[in-house]
Amino acid sequence: MERTYIMLKPDCVKRGLMGEVINRIEKKGFKITNMKMMNLDEAILREHYAHIADKPFFPGILEYMTSGPVVAMIVEGENAVLGMRTLMGATKYEDALAGTIRGDYATSTGNNIIHGSDSVENGEIEIKRFFGPNA
Ligand code: TYD
Ligand code: MG
Repeated sequence: MERTYIMLKPDCVKRGLMGEVINRIEKKGFKITNMKMMNLDEAILREHYAHIADKPFFPGILEYMTSGPVVAMIVEGENAVLGMRTLMGATKYEDALAGTIRGDYATSTGNNIIHGSDSVENGEIEIKRFFGPNA
């Protein structure tokens, strides 16, 4: 069984969409094996988003991701990494298809409801980043 790191972002929590998104994850057959609500600080976000830290939109992402709590999850299932990316939809607002979580609920590329790891390797790194080395 593969696992991935999923995070419901502050706009998802604020808009009351946690249940809707969790419902889609569970209905697809993925198992949520760990879940916690937490507030993120700049240090963990600079690690988590190191690949976009030099982009002009990064300060906006920092502000958005610290604007309220997130929900961190470990999600397991067959091809969980790719499967969750498919369920989530594309990164770019204009590319996220209707029927995907982002396609249905994102209000911009930045405010896009949900994070999912982009590879098995990064999934393991991110799970340990947010749930500790023994997770
Ligand atoms: P990235 O890891 O490329 O996307 P994904 O979340 O699909 O793995 O980027 C991280 C987040 O940065 C992304 O969810 C939204 C934000 N972002 C922008 O605001 N503008 C952009 O042009 C990109 C590429 C990302
Ligand atoms: Mg990414």
